[in-house]
Amino acid sequence: MKENRAQFATRLGVIATTVGSAVGLGNIWRFPYETGVHGGGAFLLIYVGFIFIIGVPVICAEFIMGRSTRSNIFGAFRALHGRPQWAWIGYMGILASILILSFYSVVAGWTVEYFVQSVTGTLASLDAGSRHEAFDMFCTGWKPVMWTLVFLAVNAVILLRGVKGGIERVSNVLMPVLFVILIIFCINSLLMPGASEGLAFLFRPDFSKVDSGVLLGALGQAFFSLSLGLGTMLTYASYFSDRTPLVKSAVVTSALDTCVAVLAGVIIFPAVFTFGAEPSAGPKLVFEILPDIFHRLPWGALWSSLFFFLLFLASLTSTISMSEIGIAFFCEQFGLTRKKATLLNCLIAMVLGTLCALSFGPLRDMTVFGLTVFDLFDYVSSNILLPLGGMMISIFVGWFVDRGILRTQLRGTGSIKEWILRVIVFCLRYVAPAGIALVSLSGLGVI
Ligand code: PHE
Repeated sequence: MKENRAQFATRLGVIATTVGSAVGLGNIWRFPYETGVHGGGAFLLIYVGFIFIIGVPVICAEFIMGRSTRSNIFGAFRALHGRPQWAWIGYMGILASILILSFYSVVAGWTVEYFVQSVTGTLASLDAGSRHEAFDMFCTGWKPVMWTLVFLAVNAVILLRGVKGGIERVSNVLMPVLFVILIIFCINSLLMPGASEGLAFLFRPDFSKVDSGVLLGALGQAFFSLSLGLGTMLTYASYFSDRTPLVKSAVVTSALDTCVAVLAGVIIFPAVFTFGAEPSAGPKLVFEILPDIFHRLPWGALWSSLFFFLLFLASLTSTISMSEIGIAFFCEQFGLTRKKATLLNCLIAMVLGTLCALSFGPLRDMTVFGLTVFDLFDYVSSNILLPLGGMMISIFVGWFVDRGILRTQLRGTGSIKEWILRVIVFCLRYVAPAGIALVSLSGLGVI
């Protein structure tokens, strides 16, 4: 079985696919909305700290598990330790992947709607007030269900084409274009009258706003944005070649992912203050602000069509990676064909995604702990399942995996400085588990 697994063709392919998984709605939609809700600058600083102190070592841990075993999260735990009690982390990862796929597809569906409205000129024909009203009407209706299902179907079709063909080609072309267009939008936002206020909100930390909720939010966002703690990076690493440098790939992926999030912040917040919007508006924030931004630009409809198309593709490379977890599991553990496993995964997400899509309208009163289905799926996966999964993965790799395996994997076919290895092991043994435990327990109100 090991020999038959596909491998990514090139080094660039590796970076493009891991970045393709990491960069998506998490950066462009979720990051600005979480930053807005949690008060700006201090949240950003803490978030970046978590990315590099906890995120990078945990990505390395997932990479080590994936490449050394060439297996999915279940097989990896079994191959490295052989005891069944670690299996629950795998189940948690699969649960997280399905919950995320469900609510993520709803937001991706909003992107599709905006793309269609941009192309047809509907978006450009409305003034700011009626645009917001129109978006509210759209969100609370049934149409998002249709787009969620369409999005999931497209996702399934691409997955059916296999690892190299589907995933690599899409991400290789997409990423650089997205970067360029984000930079253009940044410049546009920096020229707005609210630029200095927006930048101050984003970059000037106000620590009086920091409480345990802000810390947990930043930790959850770090895990969500890096696609970490559920086995995505692990599954992708199982397709890496032996030459792929793991630490470098982890650092490059995290750095690029953070850049995109910060760019998105620089695009959104100057506009928020220019147009007098509320930074803490929540999940709808970015979708209400972006059309106002495009409206100011010459050839606005063209820019917005291009942007929403790219965002749609960026979402796809992320959903493809989260679907891989369930699919690899159904295939390798239950012996289903890839086709059947893909369809099963897609079907489950379609049912749950429909509930999420309706939770802004018809199902808005269906709540658990005061959260709608959409918010519940988001909260449970990002703030509980992913950090917990990441904590267990770092404990496992730090304490239970043979140091020789760690060294061989991190070194690859090149070399690695001894101190880098030590720092990573130290983070995996102590820093990441203790940090995640403290932040999670206090954020959840346990301590
Ligand atoms: N990191 C992705 C994003 O930022 C979302 C994601 C989460 C993808 C978990 C895979 C697994 O959009």
